Amino acid sequence: MVVVKTIKEVRETVKQWKKEGLSVGFVPTMGYLHEGHQSLIRAAGENDKVVVSIFLNPMQFGPTEDLASYPRDLERDKEKCLESGADLIFAPDASEMYGDNFQSFVDMNLLTQELCGLTRPCHFRGVCTVVTKLFNIVKPDRAYFGKKDAQQLAVIKRMVADLNMDIEIIGCPIIREKDGLAKSSRNTYLSAEERQAALVLSKAVKKAEELIAAGVRDSAEIISQMSAVVDAEPLAKTDYIKVVSLDTMQQISKIEDSALVALAVYIGKTRLIDNYFYEGE
Ligand code: PAJ
Repeated sequence: MVVVKTIKEVRETVKQWKKEGLSVGFVPTMGYLHEGHQSLIRAAGENDKVVVSIFLNPMQFGPTEDLASYPRDLERDKEKCLESGADLIFAPDASEMYGDNFQSFVDMNLLTQELCGLTRPCHFRGVCTVVTKLFNIVKPDRAYFGKKDAQQLAVIKRMVADLNMDIEIIGCPIIREKDGLAKSSRNTYLSAEERQAALVLSKAVKKAEELIAAGVRDSAEIISQMSAVVDAEPLAKTDYIKVVSLDTMQQISKIEDSALVALAVYIGKTRLIDNYFYEGE
């Protein structure tokens, strides 16, 4: 496994692989890798070569968000990449990605105007811009994203279709701790008491899954029962609980063939997300 910091080195390596007729899978990350990221790297092993990017992208953080405190540990990340079968790590500095006088952005309407887009207004512009740049640098055949960030996955799929990017986007299942909490680099912020309180997210998701399995299709009913789960925990404060269309991310009042049930909850100061993809029977 090779670790490089420059765009030039990635391009040279991938060019050589392509010359040899090898396929390339790509997993973009912000580092501090856990089993969720590793599951994507393993899934990307269906390609001949696997590239992982580790870049804490300043552009997708708002001015009052956790960029400065976001956990980082490149040495630990290298071990995890090696363990999961990565061939190349691209770990650029911010100056390599955003040189002087950077002026160009990729943005999206509609899908970014709900859920996390409401609480984090410039977030998806930062995500779309950096992912476009990374796609242009790595030129993968396939790229792997977690369903944990369901809105991000929908946004990236839309962007690739709208802008004719010749890359297959693959959504991978949410990896959870044994007690149900979705794995996240941000879980490291939680105190022992908050870690316990954070279980309300997966409990609320489970509640939605049970209701839908029992035939409930009314969004208001699902949201109200999920809210009751979250509100029972004094350390939890709901940002949103919504039922949206998988394609448009707009709220729907009734579930028909498919839906995304998504929530964001503050546990103390830490904002966590979770969701349930209902893709029909
Ligand atoms: P990051 O939060 O590091 O996540 C990288 C990828 O890992 C994303 O596709 C995310 O959905 C996936 N992931 C995180 N936790 C997961 C879990 N518990 N189960 C399954 N997959 C999980 O998402 C980003 O970085 C950034 O926005 C990025 C796309 C890299 C652009 O900067």
